[in-house]
Amino acid sequence: MSLSFPFNVIASYTLKPKTFLRDSKLVSRSHHSFPLPSTLQTHEPSSKNLFKLTKISRLEPISSLGISETDTSSSSSSPSPSFRNKPPNEINVLVVGSTGYIGRFVVKELVKRGFNVIAVAREKSGVRGKNDKEETLKQLRGSNVCFSDVTDLNSLEQSVESLGLGIDVVVSCIASRNGGIKDSWKIDYEATKNSLLAGKKHGATHFVLLSAICVQKPLLEFQRAKLKFESELMMQDSTFTYSIVRPTAFFKSLGGQVEIVKDGKPYVMFGDGKLCACKPISEEDLASFIADCVLEEEKINKVLPVGGPGKALTPLEQGEILFRILGREPKFLRVPIEIMDFVIGVLDGVAKVFPGVAEAAEFGKIGRYYAAESMLILDPETGEYSEEMTPSYGKDTLEDFFEKVVREGMAGQELGEQFF
Ligand SMILES: NC(=O)c1ccc[n+]([C@@H]2O[C@H](COP(=O)([O-])OP(=O)(O)OC[C@H]3O[C@@H](n4cnc5c(N)ncnc54)[C@H](OP(=O)(O)O)[C@@H]3O)[C@@H](O)[C@H]2O)c1
Repeated sequence: MSLSFPFNVIASYTLKPKTFLRDSKLVSRSHHSFPLPSTLQTHEPSSKNLFKLTKISRLEPISSLGISETDTSSSSSSPSPSFRNKPPNEINVLVVGSTGYIGRFVVKELVKRGFNVIAVAREKSGVRGKNDKEETLKQLRGSNVCFSDVTDLNSLEQSVESLGLGIDVVVSCIASRNGGIKDSWKIDYEATKNSLLAGKKHGATHFVLLSAICVQKPLLEFQRAKLKFESELMMQDSTFTYSIVRPTAFFKSLGGQVEIVKDGKPYVMFGDGKLCACKPISEEDLASFIADCVLEEEKINKVLPVGGPGKALTPLEQGEILFRILGREPKFLRVPIEIMDFVIGVLDGVAKVFPGVAEAAEFGKIGRYYAAESMLILDPETGEYSEEMTPSYGKDTLEDFFEKVVREGMAGQELGEQFF
């Protein structure tokens, strides 16, 4: 399933495999080793005080619509936490969601920039837990891998405690792997909040959150879960800073049809193929942007929408690019969007009697959302999506990506349990 190809949403509904990891404290240094700072940070607020939202609100509550690169801090009082004055090799960055599509590249980029990276991972990581510890250590080479359970605050805090070092910055790339209702609240909200609490308890003063541009128009449960965490993050006390990164579409979400079209099938799209558009961004470019957020002062206390280079592309244009690369005449299959509305309507109806079907209905809604909503900034004045207002970053183009997939296939770009 992809942003432009949500046809298999219902069919690919699978139950998420359960994770029974409880209290693993194993910390493994993967491959390269570097000296771990011995000093613990002293800033250790009590976790029970962290989410008092009613008190000092240094920041405006989030607006769900039309946020462009937004400074949400109050005037010139941005704190300058001490970690910013240290060299990267003395800055400890805790990364959660380190084994995901983006998280892996974020770890790699942070390691490349010389930070002390502590990557939190499950003992069975990756899509449907396909990677064992050895494979995970290999993927997260250069970082300190901390096997723990981010869904259990005590376990996570103990694991961080057992590292014996302070945390300066938390970077969260964690996300529900299936986007379902329960899992979204458990992961995109609760587990992310756990990483904030555990990080703060061990001295962190900055949090970089990988969110999504689509939360500006929240119609889905995972978007609501993300927004709730975003708003709590913005309400931290004035010594704590954040950068909220809201990317447009990832390449993996747009590559699902390359091999099908290569095999001679038509490119499938909804309506006239112009219902939505996006400025896709590569894993490397996004990882670089996220790594910038660790130190760059101008990214402090901001919501940062970001897309890749070049113009916004509709599904029709994406299909045309693909046929051009393949040297073939374009062949499109246009599917009426109303088909999705019908399926969702039926599932919603059934869910009223059989609540278990609500998750399947939610997956249908996710597919519908990405078939019709652009991954661009919503202009609050016009209520339209705006290509011009959506910032571009990086160098990798979708055309380059399609060429690579035509040559080498989709290895490493698996959507897994998630549809987006
Ligand atoms: N796809 C797009 O086009 C797009 C566009 C904009 C924004 N985004 C957003 O980008 C974010 C990250 O996406 P991604 O594709 O990198 O995600 P992903 O590949 O699905 O990775 C999710 C990460 O979260 C971890 N995780 C999930 N459930 C967990 C659990 N129960 N316990 C512990 N860890 C758990 C995973 O660990 P394991 O490896 O152990 O499962 C993995 O490290 C999401 O918030 C998404 O909404 C996506």
